[in-house]
Parts: sequence; structure tokens; C-alpha cells
Amino acid sequence: TKQKLWGGRFTGKTDPLMHEFNLSLRYDRRMYAQDIRGSIAYAKALALRGILSQAEERKIVDGLTAVRKEWENGQFQIEPDDEDIHTANERRLSELIGSLGGKLHTGRSRNDQVATDMRLWLLDEVKEIEASLKALITVMVERADKEQDILMPGYTHLQRGQPIRWSHFLLSHAFSFQNDLQRLRQLIPRISVLPLGSGALAGNPFAVDREFLRRELGFESIAENSMWGVGDRDFIVEFMMWASLTMTHLSRIAEDLIIYSTAEFSFVTLSDAYSTGSSIMPQKKNPDSLELLRGKSGRIFGNLAGFIMTLKGLPSTYNKDLQEDKEPLFDTVDNISSCLRIAEGVIATLDAHKEKMEAALTMDILATDLADYLVRKGIPFRETHHISGRAVALAESRKCQLNDLTLEDYKTLNDKFSEDVHGVFDFEASVEKRNAIGGPSREMIARQINVLRKALAN
Ligand code: ARG
Repeated sequence: TKQKLWGGRFTGKTDPLMHEFNLSLRYDRRMYAQDIRGSIAYAKALALRGILSQAEERKIVDGLTAVRKEWENGQFQIEPDDEDIHTANERRLSELIGSLGGKLHTGRSRNDQVATDMRLWLLDEVKEIEASLKALITVMVERADKEQDILMPGYTHLQRGQPIRWSHFLLSHAFSFQNDLQRLRQLIPRISVLPLGSGALAGNPFAVDREFLRRELGFESIAENSMWGVGDRDFIVEFMMWASLTMTHLSRIAEDLIIYSTAEFSFVTLSDAYSTGSSIMPQKKNPDSLELLRGKSGRIFGNLAGFIMTLKGLPSTYNKDLQEDKEPLFDTVDNISSCLRIAEGVIATLDAHKEKMEAALTMDILATDLADYLVRKGIPFRETHHISGRAVALAESRKCQLNDLTLEDYKTLNDKFSEDVHGVFDFEASVEKRNAIGGPSREMIARQINVLRKALAN
């Protein structure tokens, strides 16, 4: 059998199970394009220093391009000794162009190579994820704009609190996602750091031009310390932290919508496209899309927790433990990408039921407004809170609503009540009164929409 790439100093054979155990090609092959991009840039950098002639550089670049085509067309033949994407590509390059292929790895290590590939790969994915997140926010903003007429109860402790607009509810979640968008963008400068040229750990002895490599590969900056360059995986941790928090937000809106889609609430109906049925109960239409959004948040946090545990206690620079960065990162990227797209679809297609939401507006949720009414007549809020509470108790004992109490009833509670008290019992007016920045009035909904549209525009 052929010698392993690193086999020179070995006399004994690798245990077969150990051989399997060591392989990462099954999952790191998805970075083939980034690996080849990095290698092409590195070949050019070697040529700049005269380590490769121009003809040699050409041959290597053409060979690497051919290897990439094989991956693209599904023609790449994996050999049993292909340990990872780096060894596989190098092995194939040498098959195509001969021993010249062996010059490519001059001064380079898989340690700076893999760190470069991972960063390039993640930067590509972050672009896609950013687009999906923007699409999700856009759908929420557009719905909020269209459906401003729908009033609903706002909840604390899942108990009816005060009237709001449905738009205000949607936008409350959209602001979480806008913060996620901001945070995602803030990760980029720390992902976009070039490790290539760090060598195994002690840097590059061929004076390779790292500024050239940075420009070729589109990185924002260069790893200034080679040991840090090969050993750092904080950019992966940070991304998984970002994903965990974003999933928390997806999980929370999912939970709200699951509750709102029950027969008991009936505020929303999910479209058939995002629901599934029961194998036994014919009437069922289950919100599986939302439940999976909620459920996957646990898995994504698990990926973070697992990998941060892998990092803890590692000695400096590269250790093979770091190969364990890939599966959790890939799984996180795959799942958050689909979660964002599913959430967008669910929210774009659900039906919001104005009648049901407005039927849930009971007069008691205007008790704060009743207290505020007396505040406007000069009574301290702490007293008006109490008086309004007694009105609620009185209505409750009469089994009637706050607006069924007569002026005389109100006068027994406080003599500042007058005919205009009945103006309090108007949900639309209550919402419109909340016109300070951040409130649910039409003007403030418009303001929120404006803020979010601006954030989406850049
Ligand atoms: N497959 C390895 C990884 O994913 C590549 C780096 C291997 N480097 C080494 N010195 N063994 O981390």
C-alpha cells in the first residue's frame, strides 16, 4: 500500500480502527473549495518569493483547478488513505501534475491550512445566514405594516395585561432579530483573520508575503502571532454563541405562536405548508415547524457547550482535539440556516385572526387606563391603582365588565369620577394614548418599522 503523507518516520502500520478514527474527510470534504482557494493563493505567494517558477505556479494552479472541478462534478475519487480534505486534495494534485505537487506545501502546515479553510468557509456561510436573517426580519416588518389595525391583548406571565397592536407583538420579536443581525455582523472582523503563513506554529521561514495572501483571500486582517493563528478557535465558539442566542429568539417566538395557534386562543392558524397531521387523530393539525424551531435551540446550544468543553484545558497551538470543531460547527450552520428559512415561511404564511384577537380584549385590561384617568384628575398613581383595583373587584362581584358599572358606582369609589369615565373603555384609544417612543400607537409602529427598514438597508 501507498505511504501516508506523513509516513516517513514510521515503520509500523496504523491500527485499522485507529485509521478510521483519525479520518475527517467524511465531513471536512465540504470545505474542498475553500481548501483549494487557499492553496491557489499559497502557490502564488510561493512564486512571488521564487520558490516556484512561474511555469510551476501555472501548473499547480491549473492542477488545483482541475481537482476542484472533480469535486464539483462528483468525480473526485476518494482513496482509503485520504485522511482529510487537505491530504486528499494534495494527493490528487500530485497524481495530476506529478512530483511538482509536492512543492505546494513548502513552509505550510495543515495547521495553518485548516484554520484558514475554516475561516473562509464560515465567512461564506455567514453571508448566506445574514441574507436569511434579513429575509425573516423583512417578512415580520411587512406584516406589521399591513396588519396595524389588529388589536390584541398583550401578556405578562401569560395573563392578559394591556391592549397592544398585533404589529407591536411582531415587531417586538423583530427587534431581537435586528440585534442578532448586528451581532452577526460584529463577528465578521474576528472571523476574517488570516492564519495562513503561521506554519505549524512557529511561522513561515520563506518570508511568504502574508499581506499578499490576505488580499488574495479577502481577509480583513492577519493573525499577528503564529501560535495563536493555528490554535485559535474562538471564532467558532463566538459563532456558536451567536447561533445559540438567535435560536433562543426563534424558540421564544415559536412558543408564542404555538400558544396562539391552539383552539383555546385561535389567534393564528399556521398554513398547511408548515403543519403536519397525526397518524391516529384525524382532526389534528400540529405546529411541528414551530416545535422544531423550539426543539433545535437545545441542540444548537449543545453544540456550543460540547465544543467549548473540548477547548478547555488544551495546550497551546494545534492539538488533534481541534478536529472536533467541525461537526458541531457544520451542524450549527446547517440547522440555523434551515431554522431561519422555516421561520420566515411560517410567519409569511400564517393567518392572523382579527376577530379572535379582539374578542380576547376584555375590559379588565383597561384597568391601568382607569387608574391613569384619575391620575389626569390629579390623584397620585399609587392611590388610583388601588381605586381601579376596587372597581375591578366590584365588577367581578357583580359578574359584569368595568364598563357596565354606572357613574354612581364609580362615584362611590372616588368623587373625581365623572361622565367622561366611559371614554376610558375604548381599546383603540388606549393603544393610541401610548404614543411615547416604543409604544404601540400607529405613529410609534411607523417609527419602529422605519428603524428596522433602515437597519435592513445597510
Ligand atoms: N483534519 C485536521 C483537522 O481538522 C487537519 C489538521 C491536521 N493537522 C495535524 N497536524 N494533524 O484539524
